[in-house]
Amino acid sequence: MKPARILILFSLACGMAGLLACGTIYFLINKKHTWIPEKLVELARQPDLLENPTAKRCGECHEAIFKAWEKSRHARAWISETYIKDSENRSKEKCLPCHIPRAVKAGSKPEPRLTQRDEGVFCIPCHMADGKMNGPYALYSPPHPTRQNDAYRKAVFCGSCHEKTYKEWQAAGHESTCQKCHMPRAEGRLVQNPVLKYFHAPKEVADHGFPHGAVGAGEIGLSVDIKPDRVRVVLLNDTVPHHVPTADNGDPRLYLTVEQFDTAGEKLDRVREILAPQQETALMYKKEVAFTYPVERGARRVSVRLEYKPAWSTEKTEVHNKSFTVDF
Ligand code: HEC
Ligand code: HEC
Ligand code: HEC
Ligand code: HEC
Ligand code: HEC
Repeated sequence: MKPARILILFSLACGMAGLLACGTIYFLINKKHTWIPEKLVELARQPDLLENPTAKRCGECHEAIFKAWEKSRHARAWISETYIKDSENRSKEKCLPCHIPRAVKAGSKPEPRLTQRDEGVFCIPCHMADGKMNGPYALYSPPHPTRQNDAYRKAVFCGSCHEKTYKEWQAAGHESTCQKCHMPRAEGRLVQNPVLKYFHAPKEVADHGFPHGAVGAGEIGLSVDIKPDRVRVVLLNDTVPHHVPTADNGDPRLYLTVEQFDTAGEKLDRVREILAPQQETALMYKKEVAFTYPVERGARRVSVRLEYKPAWSTEKTEVHNKSFTVDF
């Protein structure tokens, strides 16, 4: 045989062997990892992962999840300006457990931690327990041990810190978990590491940006009824199975503003209601709340506006803005 031909056959054989080896590794990792010898497993371990690394370190493999978390409010729990102000420059001891937790155990308030405080509520407290990364899947990860735990897909996990919201949710008796709405899942990969990603089958990945979206007209119903002598405004939280807004300590608010104008467009009257957990006026699930105001003499137009302000900002977003003609 010519040397060139030998080379081609040799490369082909190597390629086949390589593919077979990769296929075997893929199969073992995803289906039969208990067959992998313990000694081999130890070689692949990266022990620093179990010694409280930063979220960024986890992000070397879990890049997509890291990027989503980084933008979430959880990442700001300790550095948030409103938190710093309300906790009197972080001097209040009782504020620490949920804003810088050490380890989350579903259903009980965490202990505070002493290190890496700037990272707030990050990967380690939510996932590491007993020297393993706990999560929703029964899977095999060479770099660190993992353990499947059903609590990750249950509302009680979030209830460890979102105590009040969790109680409201229980009272609402809705079938959706917090994760369903605030960590929606989509098909993807748990890791983006250039080598590892080819060895792990795609799975559903939960959105670690913990979105809650702006409150929209779809969430809060608004109806207005005008009679010759009065305006009646009814608000209804028809879809969110906890109070709107909801909070343990922050001060998110809804503002309802009702204004009356005469034919010339002059303002005759303006009332503003605050719907907020701190004032115990937040909208309960499926419970109508009505406000009635007298119609001013000469009123020709009534405008009704509902705005939302999250706890960590002074900016408001519009939920409803309606205008009515008074023509009796
Ligand atoms: C060197 C790469 C690498 C690093 C760094 C890494 N992981 Fe992983 N992790 C993996 C792989 C691989 C999987 C399995 C992925 C799969 O099977 O789809 C995994 C799975 C997981 C799971 C799922 C567990 C389950 O049972 O559902 C969690 C949770 C997790 N890692 C958390 C972390 C945390 C927290 C850190 C940082 C301390 C971290 N990982 C750092 C590679 C890594
Ligand atoms: C260790 C305590 C802790 C756990 C567990 C926890 N959270 Fe949070 N969460 C917080 C804190 C603290 C904040 C507020 C951070 C800030 O803005 O200062 C927060 C904020 C949020 C926000 C944003 C609220 C806003 O006003 O924008 C959402 C949504 C949220 N969490 C959902 C969840 C869900 C869903 C779970 C369960 C999967 C969960 N959280 C588990 C402590 C926790
Ligand atoms: C507030 C707690 C919390 C924080 C902070 C958090 N996670 Fe998670 N994580 C969860 C929960 C709850 C699930 C399960 C969600 C589901 O499947 O419904 C999960 C799931 C996962 C999974 C399995 C795949 C999936 O999406 O279901 C991985 C991997 C993971 N997290 C890694 C990380 C990494 C890396 C970080 C930091 C960058 C992090 N998590 C931060 C609570 C948290
Ligand atoms: C059916 C979907 C759904 C479920 C289930 C759900 N939420 Fe919400 N949640 C929303 C919507 C929509 C908003 C936006 C309205 C708002 O900001 O109040 C929201 C807002 C929030 C906020 C922002 C605070 C605020 O009101 O400004 C937090 C925190 C929160 N939810 C936590 C939770 C927790 C914890 C659970 C589980 C106990 C949960 N949610 C269950 C849909 C849901
Ligand atoms: C039991 C857990 C827990 C404790 C303890 C706790 N918080 Fe929070 N905090 C939360 C959760 C969960 C949120 C996010 C949703 C909400 O507002 O309930 C939050 C949100 C906030 C917010 C609004 C978000 C922001 O960054 O502006 C502020 C401000 C705040 N907390 C201040 C405090 C202060 C001050 C204390 C101590 C007096 C404290 N918290 C104690 C769980 C807790």
